[in-house]
Amino acid sequence: MSKTIFISGGASGIGLAAARRFHREGWRIGIGDIDTAGMARVAQELNAFTTPLDVRDAAQWHAALADFVGETGRLDALLNNAGIARYGMFEDITPDESELQVDINLKGVINGVYAALPHLKATPGSRLINVASVAGIVGSPGLAVYSATKHAMRGLSEALDAEFTRHGVAVTCVMPFFVETPILDAGSKGSNRSIRDAIGKAPIYTVNDAAEVIWQAAHGSEREYIVGKAGRQANFARRFMPGRLRKRMKAAFAR
Ligand code: NAI
Repeated sequence: MSKTIFISGGASGIGLAAARRFHREGWRIGIGDIDTAGMARVAQELNAFTTPLDVRDAAQWHAALADFVGETGRLDALLNNAGIARYGMFEDITPDESELQVDINLKGVINGVYAALPHLKATPGSRLINVASVAGIVGSPGLAVYSATKHAMRGLSEALDAEFTRHGVAVTCVMPFFVETPILDAGSKGSNRSIRDAIGKAPIYTVNDAAEVIWQAAHGSEREYIVGKAGRQANFARRFMPGRLRKRMKAAFAR
């Protein structure tokens, strides 16, 4: 029987690349997304199970996973990947846009965990993989609320990793540095700048780089996986040179 993975937000970007990576290894793919046109393409390309899913809707999450597992009989992994970003200074991002990020990036993930847990528990050797970000390691100016949701993702993953040991469910967290996807063009109503404008000389990794790390996260024994050397450097700086990092970030945003 094929192994199975359900990917939220799998119609685009990192989620889609992960779907292709796991499909190549013979896994059966399930995708839930709000982008129905994108999902139709993936369904055809990967013979994937697809279902309309807004991660903010807990009932949709339960129905999506019940339908997927109804077809496949097992859930080896949930990739909690759907996420959005709004770029801009805190006060330029409307409260509605901030709330939307919390609803999708944090509450949407929690909804997914509730819905997936019974199926993961019933599948020996299963795994929950949450996609956070390097913005979940370093509080990222211009992405303050996004960054907050991604820090929350790491805390959630660390706690659940311990809790779910008794269920036989491993929990890992993947933290990409910048990856070339449409999210880099995310701006906000109060700003004509996007994440891409703010990247400067920093490297941008490929979706395949991210998918490879997600594949490792589905099999390895680490709790956290960083995508990109620049991400590992940021992690090092945050840990061992916090004063220098703080100074540099404050200087960059002084005006
Ligand atoms: P993307 O925009 O290409 O893909 C996001 C997918 O999520 C899209 O298919 C979109 O339709 C779906 N989605 C959005 N709102 C949804 C909702 N309410 N319910 C269900 N699906 C929804 O972006 P990307 O970059 O592939 O993002 C995937 C994850 O990777 C996100 O959690 C993002 O925060 C994270 N990430 C991305 C980085 C990057 O530089 N691209 C860096 C670090 C983390």
